[in-house]
Amino acid sequence: MFAVHLLAFYFTKLKEDQIKKVDRFLYHMRLSDDILLDVMTRFQAEMVKGLERDAHPTAAVKMLPTFVRSIPDGSEKGDFLALDLGGSKFRVLKVKVSEDGKQNVQMESQFYPTPKEITHGNGTELFDYVADCLADFMETKNIKHKKFPLGFTFSFPCIQTKLEEGVLLSWTKYFKVRGVQETDVTSSLRHALRKRKDVDVDVLALVNDTVGTMMTCGYDDQRCEVGIIIGTGTNACYMEEMRHIDLVEGDEGRMCINTEWGAFGDDGSLDDLRTEFDREIDLGSINPGKQLFEKMISGLYLGELVRLILLKMAKKGLLFSGKISAALRTKDKIETKHVAAMEKHKEGLQNTKEILMELGLTPSEEDCIAVQHVCTIVSFRSANLCAAALAAILTRLRENKKLIRLRTTVGIDGTLYKTHPQYPKRLHKVVRRLVPNCDVRFLLSESGSGKGAAMVTAVACRLVSQRKQIDEILASFELSKENLIEVKNKMRGELEYGLKKETHATATVKMLPTYVCGTPDGTEKGKFLALDLGGTNFRVLLVKIRSGRRKSVRMYNKIFAIPLEIMQGTGEELFDHIVQCIAEFLEYMGIKGACLPLGFTFSFPCRQASIDKGALVEWTKGFKATDCEGEDVVDMLREAIKRRNEFDLDIVAVVNDTVGTMMTCGYEDPNCEIGFIAGTGSNVCYMEEMKNIEIVEGTEGKMCINTEWGGFGDNGCIDSIRTKYDKEVDEGSLNPGKQRYEKMTSGMYLGEIVRQILIDLTKHGLLFRGQISESLRTRGIFETKFLSHIESDRLALLQVRRILQQLGLDSTCDDSIIVKEVCGAVSKRAAHLCGAGLAAIVEKKRENRNLEHLKITVGVDGTLYKLHPHFSGILRETVKEMAPQCDVTFMLSEDGSGKGAALITAVAKRLHNVGEN
Ligand code: BG6
Ligand code: BG6
Ligand code: GLC
Ligand code: GLC
Repeated sequence: MFAVHLLAFYFTKLKEDQIKKVDRFLYHMRLSDDILLDVMTRFQAEMVKGLERDAHPTAAVKMLPTFVRSIPDGSEKGDFLALDLGGSKFRVLKVKVSEDGKQNVQMESQFYPTPKEITHGNGTELFDYVADCLADFMETKNIKHKKFPLGFTFSFPCIQTKLEEGVLLSWTKYFKVRGVQETDVTSSLRHALRKRKDVDVDVLALVNDTVGTMMTCGYDDQRCEVGIIIGTGTNACYMEEMRHIDLVEGDEGRMCINTEWGAFGDDGSLDDLRTEFDREIDLGSINPGKQLFEKMISGLYLGELVRLILLKMAKKGLLFSGKISAALRTKDKIETKHVAAMEKHKEGLQNTKEILMELGLTPSEEDCIAVQHVCTIVSFRSANLCAAALAAILTRLRENKKLIRLRTTVGIDGTLYKTHPQYPKRLHKVVRRLVPNCDVRFLLSESGSGKGAAMVTAVACRLVSQRKQIDEILASFELSKENLIEVKNKMRGELEYGLKKETHATATVKMLPTYVCGTPDGTEKGKFLALDLGGTNFRVLLVKIRSGRRKSVRMYNKIFAIPLEIMQGTGEELFDHIVQCIAEFLEYMGIKGACLPLGFTFSFPCRQASIDKGALVEWTKGFKATDCEGEDVVDMLREAIKRRNEFDLDIVAVVNDTVGTMMTCGYEDPNCEIGFIAGTGSNVCYMEEMKNIEIVEGTEGKMCINTEWGGFGDNGCIDSIRTKYDKEVDEGSLNPGKQRYEKMTSGMYLGEIVRQILIDLTKHGLLFRGQISESLRTRGIFETKFLSHIESDRLALLQVRRILQQLGLDSTCDDSIIVKEVCGAVSKRAAHLCGAGLAAIVEKKRENRNLEHLKITVGVDGTLYKLHPHFSGILRETVKEMAPQCDVTFMLSEDGSGKGAALITAVAKRLHNVGEN
């Protein structure tokens, strides 16, 4: 009995002595909680640095965006292939995810070797080999005939700008393949696959193994928002708030960040903790100076660390009686699996003995105890350091969420963690001690990162198919050159119909004579009132024109609102309101009693019998006042003035806005013979030869024709290019079936087309999370000015999003990109169509004049033309392409059409006076 006690005492004493000896020797490797908390703080600072735009380039911890934005939500499904390259084993997998009520994942996989020729060869060989293995796998599984989406787990640091692309920053661990660094690995893989022709796979996602691990675990536990690898290498990823990720545009939601924590310390920030052994390991590695944190932690290095320590201790006579074997001197002779075996609970000492003997040593009992303790210190330090960095991530997550306590799950993989007997326990314990306010569940990734990669691929697949749907919808707004030539030719035909006596009455492009027979010549003078009704704003103006050498035009104007109930009330109410505004203006200008000649810009189709007579054919755009259609608007205005009985006005001319615009510009440029409005509505006027205007007497000289081209297509002649959205907009308008061309080209309708497309996209779940909001249901929310803002190139995505939010559309950044694209497609088509229409007009003028080349100016006005960032450019290009023999100058009407109306009034007044005398 006594002997047993004595022996036990002796053994304990022996053990204590050995442990003390090793503890003393490796004093530097034993990290207290204070040190670990300090490491944690340092890592927190590194994370911030890596995320910041300015600090990122020099940050050691790279914090790489992964473009993975969500944890699996159970809706993933399909058959996928996955590659898992970069850990201790290379694997090819087939993953089947079904969603039939309960989640279900079936996996088949095969390991393939990665010999040194491959890990140290060149890039082409590597990717050809990967492609070979994939083809072999597909062959054995008999699935070569089918097309598969593929997720590529590639466990090295890659800079990603999208999910399916990644530029290798640098090789780590035991890979050093030439010609791959700084290139996109997915395109190399695709290239290798394309060469083979016998497999058809679509590489949709590139994922780091940490991300794959997080997603694998996330499939089973939705709370999983961190992924860790403690294997050949070490690394972690976690879900970061988008607003903190400077490198990626957008600020809502989260994105997974691959921290690449293995590089922590590469800037010297851990030098105080690194030992001579760490420095030696680094010098002997394939990437000296790099991955310094990883080299203190991961499986590729732990065994070697132990060997270096043992060697040094032996040299100092602290072990093996100072004897050193050749094997102990040989690099990598002790591996991490040996460390794990030596630390086993019961058989550990025995294992140690055997391992040391295999190294050609003859260890004593004391030696074995000491060596076992060296292993413990080395692997414990590894767990401690991982715990400190993980604690930093957990703290960040907790602070991001503004929580006092965080409950979360960490997905883990890697051979060291999985096979080392004490590692998990130690890691968990230290983490809990370092961050007591986090309740962490550590979830082992049983099935590797392939399953997670398949989840990511499933999401990517869904996005690809959504993208296809969006592209298809937008493609219906693309007009080919042939389409545009057809539009031009048809427009040309309709212009002729409208001019001919027999067809004029039924023509859809009405070609209304305006009785304006010349452009300004500079002799106009006098003081006039002008009204400008029918565009975005209703204006009353006072225009003073001087002729001769001091030729000038001075204008005073005031904008008045026309409430919707007046626009769509009775005719009497509308004209009474107009007269009320005139009265206010006269008062405001202090010319209450003056009886001035007045020019009335009335931007609707009027059948004129003279310059001062115009019967409204029909309302267009947003007007619908009763009892006006068919009536003379000048009469209606006169009667309203009479009803008010306060002042008298001499209404001399009624003028369409296109005509007013042409005259405004014609005053500056005599070559301006076309007026074009691209605003609330769309229309063109131009100077036509009298001989071509069959419905007006006379063949001498010219007269301006108000084409009213907005009605182009009302006979169905352009129905083949109208989309279902155009039809919906038409049906919801005040004048269904009418003004079909205008409804595809002008400001009042473009926003509505956009809205219809957005509703459709939302219905298909492609936008706004599938939720059609009240705002989206509201007619007219997208005014032209919003389209113009949204499409501005100077605007960042966030600003687009803000505009949409102001409109009550709760959009994500992805939504904003799509909305912008939709706006672009719609406005581009409008510019194309107007360009084709204008080409028809200038071509007609060229032929009228029998010219090889025509040089002409188009006077333009309208908010769409003026505000939209791309409309005018595309328009000009289209005209150039569709009418190459015409040299068309576009002149913006700066002063609106009121000035032109006054000029017309001046001429009419003079002619009138001449007639009277
Ligand atoms: C595997 C994963 O389970 O673990 C790999 O599927 C990962 O993606 C690996 O790289 C990490 O561990 P080790 O020990 O193989 O490097
Ligand atoms: C204005 C003209 O500048 O532009 C109006 O003075 C014209 O006569 C208007 O109707 C057209 O643009 P919008 O965008 O206001 O309809
Ligand atoms: C290395 C790689 C990293 C990977 C880790 C674990 O640190 O750089 O990308 O996640 O090993 O395999
Ligand atoms: C509508 C009107 C037309 C006007 C145009 C531009 O098309 O019918 O007369 O010129 O809008 O305002």
